Amino acid sequence: MIKNIALFFSQARENFTTTGAIAPSSPSLGRAITWPLGLRSSNPIRVLEVGPGTGAFTSRILEHLRPGDRFEIYELNARFCRYLRQTLPFERLLSKGIECRLYNADVRSISAGLQFDYIVCSLPFNNFEPELVTEILAVLIDRLAAQGVLSYFEYNLSHEFKSKFLKPQDRQRMIAVGRVVRAFIDRHQVGYRQVWLNLPPARARYCRKDVTV
Ligand SMILES: C[S@@+](CC[C@H](N)C(=O)[O-])C[C@H]1O[C@@H](n2cnc3c(N)ncnc32)[C@H](O)[C@@H]1O
Repeated sequence: MIKNIALFFSQARENFTTTGAIAPSSPSLGRAITWPLGLRSSNPIRVLEVGPGTGAFTSRILEHLRPGDRFEIYELNARFCRYLRQTLPFERLLSKGIECRLYNADVRSISAGLQFDYIVCSLPFNNFEPELVTEILAVLIDRLAAQGVLSYFEYNLSHEFKSKFLKPQDRQRMIAVGRVVRAFIDRHQVGYRQVWLNLPPARARYCRKDVTV
């Protein structure tokens, strides 16, 4: 636990743009973001996790998996990947018939033909350029199965709060990111949960490819 917090903190200092937080997410946010998996059917499912960090959500996702399921994890940061390779129970999962693969790669490199029933994404969109956010959201929604659910979170008030303290150029970037994310929410969101027990408080959002289906 201490090792995982120390690693997260060191990576936040070294790579704040991609890490986007100073501490791992709380168990409450973990429960909220993985909540849709609790509604899964008994048929095998395909799950994608993007940006697991030290695995705050990964362990919760594993609790929902059953024989025949397939779980893919994309993490950009090599230090986080090394930590996950040492701590995730790959062999035990395989012996139960659950295929789990961890890629030290950008989520944008995920094969075009793949489709997932559940996607859990923790990327810090507010730290990115708007073009990158547009590109990543397009990849995520493209890889989501027709009846699938994409969960992601955002910190409360991050746009309004951060933009007051930013240089004008960064403020413009955040406003533009806010517009991209808002348009995505308007088109794809089917619900959300407010989580106060997280540092900072956050909102878990649930999205579908087509909200009219
Ligand atoms: C806010 S941290 C979330 C960590 C963890 N899920 C949690 O909630 O405690 C964001 C994570 O996304 C990863 N990341 C950032 N950009 C990425 C990308 N393009 N593809 C895959 N992972 C990425 C970072 O390295 C980091 O581990």
